[in-house]
Amino acid sequence: MEKIIFDTDIGVDDAFALAYAAKSCDILGITCVFGNVAVEQAVRNARLFSHKIGLDVPVYRGSSRPLAHLPTPSAWDVHGADGLGGVFDNPWSGAAENAIDFIIQSVRDNPDALTIVAIGPLTNIAVAINQAPDIIPQIKRLVVMGGAFGSHGHSGNVTPFAEFNIWKDPHAADQVLSSAIPVVMLPLDVTLEVTVSGDDIRSLNHPVLSTISQGYLAYSKQHGVEGMALHDTLTIAYLNHPEWFGVTTSPVRVVTDRINRGQTLRQLNSPATRDDPFAGCRPQSLCLTVEAEHVKAHFMAALRQ
Ligand code: BDR
Ligand code: CA
Repeated sequence: MEKIIFDTDIGVDDAFALAYAAKSCDILGITCVFGNVAVEQAVRNARLFSHKIGLDVPVYRGSSRPLAHLPTPSAWDVHGADGLGGVFDNPWSGAAENAIDFIIQSVRDNPDALTIVAIGPLTNIAVAINQAPDIIPQIKRLVVMGGAFGSHGHSGNVTPFAEFNIWKDPHAADQVLSSAIPVVMLPLDVTLEVTVSGDDIRSLNHPVLSTISQGYLAYSKQHGVEGMALHDTLTIAYLNHPEWFGVTTSPVRVVTDRINRGQTLRQLNSPATRDDPFAGCRPQSLCLTVEAEHVKAHFMAALRQ
């Protein structure tokens, strides 16, 4: 089983991903970050959801705001007032030990053996590699849900140019994606291609997933979309079955400001320009196509109770 740290701003699709990871990965710890919800709420959600699915792993508290931009509102419209559909009482505390220290120590303890799965803004990862650059060559790989490169017309979900996780903290994303860490990106190009309907979710006989996803499904319907994109779960699907993804390699940079804040840019050719924004950036693995039916079937089989 893949040994992972699960870095999340836990909302509804993050919770689906955690349930899937609990079945198929060795989770060392859950590190929380602001994003869909405030970081304290993410800690509370991670604890509540883990408890509900019988997962016993430590939960850590990370960054509460972006590196440079002012904080932007939580995604309560999509994920509900508390990020988990607003359906459960949550008795858990938002206080926890430091996520950055945990990431740094875990990588040092598991050189070349630890995968970080990051499904929220990349702030915790940026802070960790800035604080301890020695861990960069020791991270086996970082698997990210984030970004958009325009395949199948998928170029953004917050703005026409930007995907939510990258838009939330574009400076962190630019630092991480242009670093020497081997990154696998699951952008909107693939995550919007794999959806589940209300009937699909009901057929899992998983009361917790059914309950938390009602609001998300209603939000999608209001916006003319039937069903729910599995977004964050595709990171776990990639770890289980990388052969179901079509991967392109290219260096990646992120636009940090102005109207296309959060846009992910890849190198399309290598013209001899005077100034190369990709100079020194490692080619990253970008998943641009997916065998959606295989991914969905594997996810459904893993979660069915
Ligand atoms: C991403 O945004 C968040 O709302 C989801 O949890 C996912 O990580 C999709 O753009
Ligand atoms: Ca997320």
